[in-house]
Amino acid sequence: MPLQWSKKGTRRVPSKIYTCNHVYEKELSNIFRGNTWNYVGLSSEVEKPGDYIQTFVGDVPVILIRDRKGTLNVFVNRCPHRGAKICHNQKGNTKVLVCPYHEWAFSLEGKFSGMPFRKGIDGKGGMSEFFHSTEHSLQALNVTERHGVVFASFSYDIEPFDTYLDPVMLSYFDRVCSGRKLKVIGKMQHKVNCNWKLQIENVKDPFHAALLHSFFKNFGIWRSDQKTSVKVCSSGKSSVLVSTASFTKAETEKKAEKKAELSLLDQRLIDHQREYEHGTGAIMTLFPNLILLQQLNCLAMRHVIPDGTDSCIKIWTFFGYEDEPEELTKRRLLQANLLGPSGLVTIDDNEILAVTQEGAKGSPDSEIVLEAGVGESSEDHMMTESAIRGFYKYYRGVMNLE
Ligand SMILES: [Fe+2]
Repeated sequence: MPLQWSKKGTRRVPSKIYTCNHVYEKELSNIFRGNTWNYVGLSSEVEKPGDYIQTFVGDVPVILIRDRKGTLNVFVNRCPHRGAKICHNQKGNTKVLVCPYHEWAFSLEGKFSGMPFRKGIDGKGGMSEFFHSTEHSLQALNVTERHGVVFASFSYDIEPFDTYLDPVMLSYFDRVCSGRKLKVIGKMQHKVNCNWKLQIENVKDPFHAALLHSFFKNFGIWRSDQKTSVKVCSSGKSSVLVSTASFTKAETEKKAEKKAELSLLDQRLIDHQREYEHGTGAIMTLFPNLILLQQLNCLAMRHVIPDGTDSCIKIWTFFGYEDEPEELTKRRLLQANLLGPSGLVTIDDNEILAVTQEGAKGSPDSEIVLEAGVGESSEDHMMTESAIRGFYKYYRGVMNLE
């Protein structure tokens, strides 16, 4: 039965979109294999010719690799012979990609470059006259890079990245990824027991941060009385939450006194060195599944990989700038303790998203309610769900769910 979307538009979302296999399959084809730029990594992760990392576009395993000319290539991690996964290491450097099954080999440009026993053994057997090596390249994706951040698409008919993000989104992307060389300072990976969209919604939802996250509230990083705004791009698909913390020591201590005398033994966890204009935190969601996070001095790419209807994998790439002082890098690493699988803040989300998924599963005919604020555009306060409604405005179009 086709999925029915409520007449109330984006103010309601049917719970089935978090649980239905048919919807999930359609998302993989219409979104992740459609006209989307999907985050695949930082170019500094594959700096030298032959450097590669494994990652995903949607649920499709891919390899990001730099060839001898310095070009970045993204290939489906699948041997065109019998379909086995070619690359098994998370990262490395190689001169050639070789499938472990029958040792078909491919160049760094993805072209078939050889195989054992092509002409048979002792003059017997081998590949037939119908085998043409040029027909058996690795499947290559369309690749683009902006300021050291690499995106790939199954579509070769997609608009350039700088119009894929509208000017406001692009300005927030460039705010952190400005062209200064990025350096990776850590990686984390974990599974969240919820549909990938619940994870994306979570960071489009500004007011949960001041309610659910006790750590944020108690130590002044994100509270309801702070200056917060929500920027939504014109199509609705991408957005950014911008907040300004009141984290000076005096302020934090004053608030902490009021709140059961909580204080940090190590204040460095939230000590912040102002780096950017417009807020002390900006959490951007780039359609479909990248979260570009700046919270205090912590910078991270959070890549949300769909993993069936009721699970997603989050890969966190923490980064800084190559030319920054070591002290700042250390501060970023320290603040990574707020995030990740057991971070003082993210742990709340991991748990609440899992029980939200259970709610969808237990009541498949229900709807979720998005009545905070009106419409799907930018707002200069936090008591709004406009960024989530914007996401679903775009989502319904691309999924043909009218
Ligand atoms: Fe949260």
